[in-house]
Amino acid sequence: MNITTSAAWKAIEAHRQSFSPVHLREMFARDPGRATALSLSFDGILFDFSKQRIDSTTLPLLAALAKEARLDEWTKRMFDGEKINASEDRSVLHVALRRSHGPFPGADLDVMPEVVATRQRMAAFADTLRAGQALGFTGMPIRNVVNIGIGGSDLGPKMVGYALRSISHPALGVHYVSNLDGAQLAPLLQTLDPRTTLFLVASKTFTTQETMLNAQTARDWLVANLGDAAAVASHFAALTAKPERAFEFGIREDAVFPLWDWVGGRFSLWSAVGLALMIAIGPHAFADLLAGAERMDEHFRSTPHERNLPVVMALIGIWNTNFLGATSNAVLPYNESLKYFPSFLQQLEMESNGKSVGIDGQPLACASNPIVWGELGNNGQHAFFQLLHQGGRLVPCDFIAAVRSDYPLPGHQEALLANCFAQSAALAFGKTGEEARSELSRTSMPLAALEELLPHKVFPGNQPSSTLLLSRLDAQTIGALVALYEHKVFVQGVIWGLNSFDQWGVELGKAVASSILPAIAQPALAEKLDVSTQQLLAFSRQHLA
Ligand code: F6P
Repeated sequence: MNITTSAAWKAIEAHRQSFSPVHLREMFARDPGRATALSLSFDGILFDFSKQRIDSTTLPLLAALAKEARLDEWTKRMFDGEKINASEDRSVLHVALRRSHGPFPGADLDVMPEVVATRQRMAAFADTLRAGQALGFTGMPIRNVVNIGIGGSDLGPKMVGYALRSISHPALGVHYVSNLDGAQLAPLLQTLDPRTTLFLVASKTFTTQETMLNAQTARDWLVANLGDAAAVASHFAALTAKPERAFEFGIREDAVFPLWDWVGGRFSLWSAVGLALMIAIGPHAFADLLAGAERMDEHFRSTPHERNLPVVMALIGIWNTNFLGATSNAVLPYNESLKYFPSFLQQLEMESNGKSVGIDGQPLACASNPIVWGELGNNGQHAFFQLLHQGGRLVPCDFIAAVRSDYPLPGHQEALLANCFAQSAALAFGKTGEEARSELSRTSMPLAALEELLPHKVFPGNQPSSTLLLSRLDAQTIGALVALYEHKVFVQGVIWGLNSFDQWGVELGKAVASSILPAIAQPALAEKLDVSTQQLLAFSRQHLA
């Protein structure tokens, strides 16, 4: 189905033509009730989208598009466990991972017994470690845990682990290694004692090159230092959907924690892939994380579209991308603890919806996911915000802040929030030439200099943003926040008509890398490669030697 030919799409397009010249300043001036009318809240999260370039008639039109795309039907299909990931012939059931009760998705296909059993095994494992009762090969207690994984097997637990570091176990170090570059693993190993270190090999497929090479290097380091290959069994665990590959690696059966083919990598934070996180924050806080996500799932499943946070967020994204022409979306957390959230969202959104072929195999008739990028907002202000304010590009922004801080240094939190709110206001309302002139004229600047400076002091404004204001960043809220974005991604995928749950676009690079790797050592193998790659290889060989 080509959604761009639907009546709903055409109605939005007509609305845009009549409406989009209106500046956000004017929209706010016209409607004093705008902030409350264009905001939603749920479980300690205020979602203020009043600084988006929409009015009260925009959302119903967008909601009609969601209806046209049969969003409710697709949502039901996902929650019913239908194989909506068609190109991989898989169900999409990450929501099961945070459910507190079963059977789910149904009595005939109930995944909850294995989900609950794995959760219980993870909790027992984490508790033993946290109590200092997990012993290494030499009988010393484990003090450091290294999660070796990449993409979805790294970003989620690392992101939440950093967000909740204020409640991390004080005596256990939890580290994340993802990069093939030895510059990540080597310095870390130098700080670790092999007798007290546990490696978690997190890989759904247990074949990912980065993860397997880092795991092998860690194993070699361990065996070399402890002098016995049998030590591997006491110092490695695996989080994987391919347990037989973990056994081959030397990992004991009771240290292999399963996930299933119905959990996509970027949706796997809630599964065994979250074990490093659970070890850091404890099973109770991990359960709070799941509870927050489960509440968002229920909200998503049961709330009418126009009051449904993920749906509204998704629809605004569609509006900005497909009707206003935005090509990127900035994620700007005003919260140090959300430092890794932009990277996490990059995978979640771009690996899910960065596609131009629909679920039916036909080219999409419209743009899909914008480029997601971002940085801690306060740091970004002193780096790239210049472009947001005066660069002349449309860059919708997601501002994210938490009102209460776990690190309440006097005056810091108030100043941080003031900056967050100021930026979204400045981006929306800007500063007109008249305002800039009147400001400058209050200085002693000569008129000619004033006129020269004036164009540089004008801020066009009208830059759309939403603000997600959390009452605080605890485990439950961050669970809800992540689930909110997951469902946003799903809704957008449904409207664009693509499969959000496969990732074929990552395969080509992997295959090419495996054909180039042997050519580094064997020049004859490079002959069939393109001349640029041959040159890069020749230069590398020269310097490797
Ligand atoms: O290459 C992309 C990808 O497959 C992601 O989708 C996934 O999260 C990551 O690699 C890691 O995969 P695995 O958990 O199988 O090692």
